[in-house]
Amino acid sequence: MNKITLKDRTFKVSIPELEILRQVRRVGTEINQDFASEKPLFLVVLNGAFVFAADLLREINMACEIRFIRFSSYSGTERSHEVKQILGLDVDIKDRLIVVVEDIVDSGYTMKQLLETLAKQQPKQIHIASLFVKSDNLKVNLDIKYYCFKIPNDFIVGYGLDYDDLGRNFRDIYTVID
Ligand code: IMP
Ligand code: MG
Repeated sequence: MNKITLKDRTFKVSIPELEILRQVRRVGTEINQDFASEKPLFLVVLNGAFVFAADLLREINMACEIRFIRFSSYSGTERSHEVKQILGLDVDIKDRLIVVVEDIVDSGYTMKQLLETLAKQQPKQIHIASLFVKSDNLKVNLDIKYYCFKIPNDFIVGYGLDYDDLGRNFRDIYTVID
């Protein structure tokens, strides 16, 4: 399937599954090397990271813990000051080595807020493992140590990523063309 239609938009394959898996394995190998003597806690950000996490974490060969978190967003008095709560963080992260597993870092605001919230609980270290980074769009300073792909500012779906909750099930990554 080279093209898919989701609601009003058309998408075309841009990164085939095999290429994704190759990069996921590379990142898994890096994490294995860097944390060989640690017991990391992987925090998987739902929903988008669920496919990436399933493949990445099966590359990890040390004892580790895995938790799933998600944002519940509610607006404050002003829309621009939308506050996001983190759900599912029911584990003590003090002095832990944390790896946040995310699907895509775009402006970086979501990740920045997550890191700041986690930092309050004084983990030993926090690292980011993101499937994609839209580096031209990054608005905040983030040290993204582990990523599979840097991509241009195009909208993508598949392999866990969605357009209006559609498209997460596709094996390849698709870029919007229409
Ligand atoms: P940020 O706060 O701007 O970095 O937004 C990151 C979030 O926006 C990701 O976790 C995704 O949920 C969503 N997002 C950004 N770009 C895309 C895309 O191209 N496809 C699907 N979701 C995206
Ligand atoms: Mg996400």
